[in-house]
Amino acid sequence: MFYVIWINIGVMQDLMLAGFDNVSNNIEWAMAEMMNNPRIFDKVVHELDFVVGKDRLVQESDLPRLKYIKSCVKEAFRLHPVAAFNVPHVTTANSTVARYFIPKGSHILVSRPGLGRIPDVWEDTLTFNPDRHMNGHKEVVLANYNLHTFAFSTGRRGCPVVLLSSTMSTMLLARLVQGFTSFASPFLSH
Ligand code: HEM
Repeated sequence: MFYVIWINIGVMQDLMLAGFDNVSNNIEWAMAEMMNNPRIFDKVVHELDFVVGKDRLVQESDLPRLKYIKSCVKEAFRLHPVAAFNVPHVTTANSTVARYFIPKGSHILVSRPGLGRIPDVWEDTLTFNPDRHMNGHKEVVLANYNLHTFAFSTGRRGCPVVLLSSTMSTMLLARLVQGFTSFASPFLSH
């Protein structure tokens, strides 16, 4: 009985840390950056007004069209990753990543702030600029498996719920901004 309770507490703790903490940290950074960049905040509000309007809250079906907000979430992941390093893993085979040979059995620690600030990959690295993730008509995808960013880790032990996490993060940021700007709006009083 004790072990069952103990394992359940462990599972709940994992979900709390992996799920809610990651999402809320990311959104706090995105909001903080937007407070310092009113131009970006205005663009987010404009996108929300255009896609959703002022009469209702954001729904999941709106998310594919909220590309700029998603880009803000992605940019917060790039510039302010929640954890500086991935959870250490050991390679099970010889491999080569970005021309570096990594022998089987190596302990791998990848620096997320390092990846997000490589000058060869990111122009003007320290500036919060969501526009860099907008790619024409294509949907903005938060996971980036080419290792330019590393928010969800990758491979077999990477985050198993990238789609759910992307939905939670984008929805939370969008609704926060809506609540922030439209608190006098009638739909919030219901
Ligand atoms: C923005 C939100 C999230 C981020 C950035 C994130 C990131 C990550 C990362 C980097 C890992 C891999 C850790 C490793 O290398 O071992 C991971 C694993 C995991 N994540 Fe997420 N996560 C997020 C949201 C969530 C949510 C919402 C859930 C569940 C409700 C979740 C459940 C898990 C679980 C169960 C694992 C462990 C997978 C394993 O060990 O095989 N994550 N997450």
